[in-house]
Amino acid sequence: MQHTTFSYPLKRIGLIGGGQLGKMTAQAAREMGFFINVLDPQPQCPAASVADAQLVGDLYDGAKIRALARLSDVLTYEIEHIDIDTLKALHDEGYPIYPSPYVLEIIQDKLLQKQVLDKHGVPVPAYQQVDVVDAEFLANATFPLVQKARRGGYDGKGVAVLKSPDDIDKVLNTPSMVESFVPFKKELAAMIARDKHGNVACYPIVEMVFDDRTNICDIVAAPADIAPEIAEQARQVAVKAIEVLDGVGVFGVEMFLTQEDTILVNEIAPRPHNSGHYTIEACVTSQFEQLVRIVSDLPLGSPQLLSPAAMLNLLGDEGFQGRPVIAGLAEALAISGLSFHFYDKAITRPFRKMGHITVLAEQVSTALEALEHAKDVLKIQGEETLK
Ligand SMILES: Nc1ncnc2c1ncn2[C@@H]1O[C@H](COP(=O)(O)OP(=O)(O)OP(=O)(O)O)[C@@H](O)[C@H]1O
Ligand SMILES: [Mg+2]
Repeated sequence: MQHTTFSYPLKRIGLIGGGQLGKMTAQAAREMGFFINVLDPQPQCPAASVADAQLVGDLYDGAKIRALARLSDVLTYEIEHIDIDTLKALHDEGYPIYPSPYVLEIIQDKLLQKQVLDKHGVPVPAYQQVDVVDAEFLANATFPLVQKARRGGYDGKGVAVLKSPDDIDKVLNTPSMVESFVPFKKELAAMIARDKHGNVACYPIVEMVFDDRTNICDIVAAPADIAPEIAEQARQVAVKAIEVLDGVGVFGVEMFLTQEDTILVNEIAPRPHNSGHYTIEACVTSQFEQLVRIVSDLPLGSPQLLSPAAMLNLLGDEGFQGRPVIAGLAEALAISGLSFHFYDKAITRPFRKMGHITVLAEQVSTALEALEHAKDVLKIQGEETLK
């Protein structure tokens, strides 16, 4: 093997977005001696306490993105909603950006993303482009259907499930696409890491469980309780999805397991993903370290699962806002195998993602039971109560 040398600081990684994904990426980078510069509009963003430097600026501010690039050797991002034109220009000038802004451009538009996957034989739900979802469209539609904003959605915002023409008040007034509603058995996900040489590391197939009220992913079970053949099928679909995009980086691939035991790709995130938080404690190489390795052109780490695990998102309690107050922390930490992550957000709001916990156990079912117990005792409240 050719000897590689790195002078100190090993590499300066520029990260667009300083939320919790940015914080955990920065932690992995710092652990390995890499420098990390963050661009985020909020001076006290979660990544700020870990990063070497922060530029305060909007993620659509091209001048700020260029300034970040000048401070850094390579750029990556923790969020899709960023200025793509500047990134494409930088890329065309030869500046390294992972994943490529051309891949991000496809993923940013849910319709284009589906079209590209579909064209290359990656299974997706039946979909169609619509200019406007109006009474006339609904009069002729087959229900239930799912309307999705082409751009800008996250955490279920930008998704409307329409059950009949009477749901016209739920319609999103934005350029969108519609999909047939998939009455899935389970929602699955996998983190796929792919380097610029085409090497791939596929993490275990996990199950995502959603909170009915918020449509936010609530619990992740790793590995998913599915037959080995289904896990293998999901793995193949997820890897293919990233290969057809020629994606280089770390990707969260969200999938549906249908009633017929087939796999459909729901959507792809071109960055570390909530369904991969468990990899911090449960896998040899976390999704965040994997991203640091890829952007630094170092070999992929092992995605091997060391222990079954379950992860719970800690969402801001419904009745509170203001400075966070963590209730039941000691009781939760008394649970064997539990790790607590807090994102350093100065303000809580109902259902805001404030942190997460991961439990390792010999069986996923045991980890899930422990999580349920933790969910009862651990609450992210706030200094102000809401009526
Ligand atoms: N075609 C579909 N059939 C059934 N349910 C769907 C369909 N598309 C989306 N959903 C449900 O809505 C959720 C959110 O959809 P999607 O993942 O496309 O949106 P999102 O806002 O980008 O989500 P997030 O940021 O939470 O990943 C899915 O996880 C799934 O539960
Ligand atoms: Mg999603």
